[in-house]
Amino acid sequence: MPRGLPRCENRPVEEQTLTDGTVWLDRPIADDIDAVAEACQDPAIAEWVTIPWPYGRADAEDFIGTTVADGWAAHSPIWAVRTAERGRLVGTVSLGTRPRDETAAEIGFWLHPEYRRKGIISRAVALTCDFGFDPAGMGLIRIHWRAFVGNHASAAVARKHGFRYEGLARLGSDHRGTRRDHWVAARLNTDPPGPAGGWPVEV
Ligand SMILES: CC(C)(COP(=O)(O)OP(=O)(O)OC[C@H]1O[C@@H](n2cnc3c(N)ncnc32)[C@H](O)[C@@H]1OP(=O)(O)O)[C@@H](O)C(=O)NCCC(=O)NCCS
Repeated sequence: MPRGLPRCENRPVEEQTLTDGTVWLDRPIADDIDAVAEACQDPAIAEWVTIPWPYGRADAEDFIGTTVADGWAAHSPIWAVRTAERGRLVGTVSLGTRPRDETAAEIGFWLHPEYRRKGIISRAVALTCDFGFDPAGMGLIRIHWRAFVGNHASAAVARKHGFRYEGLARLGSDHRGTRRDHWVAARLNTDPPGPAGGWPVEV
């Protein structure tokens, strides 16, 4: 299928391992529940991602059994990030689509605190965008990113991977019952992989 044409609606996203030889992405499984529960004790994940808080093992069970399962069934894959094939889950990355709008997706990611600043999420985002834009993958035309204002680590990742800053949505997100401002950026399938210029200095 030529780049830029909408993909066939409702074609399931193929469950395949994505790897660059350093990072492996695959569908999280029940064996990952404890690793998810441990990572999500990190206050930074709770600050920047809308997870339940406090976070317990039942939340991780629900994440694997419901969120991940529903996501894959609804054309919104969630991958485990691993640093070895079938190794421990150290983070997740996802592409969330909306019903009847399957050529655009929102990227999301988090990483266990002990694994940060090593380029792991960077590799995971590169693999995810390549798969998302690939007509043989998800055939996306647009991948957008949003983060609560102040999340400079997440903005650095988005900027590095070619996402162009599009603005600030005032009180645009709900975070466990509180509305918060968020930044928005996006990369189109025709954009270069990055880094992107034009971001405000304060972001
Ligand atoms: C956002 C997050 C995934 C980044 O993970 P990471 O492992 O540090 O990212 P990487 O090592 O791949 O770094 C990618 C780039 O971001 C930069 N970066 C990472 N953390 C940064 C920070 N706190 N401030 C500024 N830049 C930062 C890195 O320097 C790197 O850029 P470079 O290659 O040009 O040096 C991690 O901080 C995290 O899990 N945070 C909590 C959850 C979260 O905020 N998720 C995103 C919600 S929108």
